[in-house]
Amino acid sequence: MSTKKMWGGRFARKTAASVEAYTLSVTFDRKLAAEDVAGSKAHARMLAEQGILTLEEAERIQEGLEWVRQEIAENRFEWKPELEDVHMNIEARLTDLIGPLGGKLHTARSRNDQVALDFRLYVSRRLTQWGQALANLSAVLLDRAEGQRETLLPGYTHLQPAQPVSLAHHLLAYAWMFRRDHERVTDALKRVRVSPLGAAALAGTTHPINPDSVRAALGLDAVFGNSLDAVSDRDFVAEALFVGSLIMAHLSRLCEELILWANPNFGFVRLPDAYSTGSSIMPQKKNPDVCELMRGKTGRVYGNLTALLTILKGLPLSYNRDLQEDKEPFFDTDETVRASLSIMADMMAEMGFNPENMRRSLAKGFLNATELADYLVTKGLAFREAHHATGAAVAFAEREGKGLEDLTLDDLRQFSDLIGDDVFAVLSYEAAVARRVSPGGTGQKAVDRQVDDLRAWLAGVIPAEIGG
Ligand code: ARG
Repeated sequence: MSTKKMWGGRFARKTAASVEAYTLSVTFDRKLAAEDVAGSKAHARMLAEQGILTLEEAERIQEGLEWVRQEIAENRFEWKPELEDVHMNIEARLTDLIGPLGGKLHTARSRNDQVALDFRLYVSRRLTQWGQALANLSAVLLDRAEGQRETLLPGYTHLQPAQPVSLAHHLLAYAWMFRRDHERVTDALKRVRVSPLGAAALAGTTHPINPDSVRAALGLDAVFGNSLDAVSDRDFVAEALFVGSLIMAHLSRLCEELILWANPNFGFVRLPDAYSTGSSIMPQKKNPDVCELMRGKTGRVYGNLTALLTILKGLPLSYNRDLQEDKEPFFDTDETVRASLSIMADMMAEMGFNPENMRRSLAKGFLNATELADYLVTKGLAFREAHHATGAAVAFAEREGKGLEDLTLDDLRQFSDLIGDDVFAVLSYEAAVARRVSPGGTGQKAVDRQVDDLRAWLAGVIPAEIGG
C-alpha cells in the first residue's frame, strides 16, 4: 500500500499492514458517502461566505464534489482501503479531479466534526424512514382491526383465558405501541438533527467560521453548543438504538402471539403462504419462521444497544477512536428494523383470521365468570361474596364439563338466590364485550373511539413526515 497518508508528515515508517486492516473503516463507513459529500459542499460554501476561500475556489470544490458524488452513485468510484475511511477517500479523489485546491476543503474542519455530521445526517434520514414504516404498519393494523370489530376471542392474562375481547381491540393494542414508537422517533430526531460542524478537532477553530450557515444549508434544526461535546457525543446513536430496540420488542411480542395463534391448538390465524415456510422432512408443517426470526433478531438489536453503551462508558473527552465502533451497530439495527417493519406490515395485511376457532375457544375458559360476579354485585351482593359464589359455580360447571352459560337456572341458583332469568343475557360473550364501553375498553363503542383517535393521528403524520 503505497499511497501517501494524508496525515503522514511526521511519520518515518509506514503503517503495518495488519494495523491498516485493523483501523480502516471504509469497508463500512462508505455508507456515509452521500452525507459526506453534502456536508463538504455546505462547508465549502460557508468558507466562501466567510471569505476564507474565494467564491471561485468554493465553486470549483463544489463542482468537483459533485463529480465525486456521481462516481459513487453510479458505482464508478474506486474505494481505496489504504485511504482508511470514507472522508479521506472522497477528499483524495477530489484532489485528483481538481488539483491541490482540493486540499483547501479541510480548512477549519477535522474528521472529528466531519464524521459526527455525516453520521447525524445518516441517522436522521434513516429514523425518518422508521417513522414512515411505523405509520404504515399502524395503518395496516387499523385497516385489519376495522373489519374485526365483531370477532371475539379470549383475552389472556398469565396466558390463561381471562375475559373476551374483540380482535379489533387486540390488534389496536399494537397500533398504540407503534404510535408511541413513532413519537419516540420524532423526539429522538430533535437531538439527532443538530450540526456539530465547526467544532473542528475538539476546541473550535481560529478561522472566522459560521456554523449556522452549514446547519441551514443542510436543513438541520440546531447547532452544537460545546465543541468538546460536539465531537464526542453519541447520545443520538444510543437513543436511536434504544428506539430500535423497543420497536423490535413490540414486533417480537406480536411475533410470539402469531406463533402461538398459528399453532393448531389455538388455530386463530392462518399464516399467509408467502410468509411461512415448510419442513424438509415433515410434509404437514407450515412453520412461522418469519416470526421466529424477527423474535430472534430482536436479540441482536438489543446487543447493538448494549455494545454502544459499553463503548461510551469509559471515554474521556473528547473524540476517541473507539467512536468509530458506533457505526456498525447502527447499520445493523437499521437494516433489521426497516426490514422487520416492512415485512410485518405486508404479513399483517394478508394474515388469515379464523373467527370460528376464536369463538370456540371462548367456551373453554369460563371467560364470562367476571360477568356473573358483576351481575351479583348489581343485585346487591358485596363483590367479595359475589366472587366466592361465582367461583363455586365455576367449580360446579367444570365438574359437569359445561360452560356457565350451559347451566340451568336451578343449577345457578344453588350458588345465590339473587340469580334470576336475566342472568343468561349477561353470560353471553357478545354482551360481555359490548358492555365494556369504559374509555379504552373492548366494547365496540369504545373501540370506535380508538379507531377515530388513531386515524386522526395517522392523518397528521402520513402526509407530512418528519424531517422531509
Ligand atoms: N473513521 C473515523 C471514525 O469513524 C473518522 C474520524 C477519525 N478521526 C481521527 N482523529 N482519527 O470515527
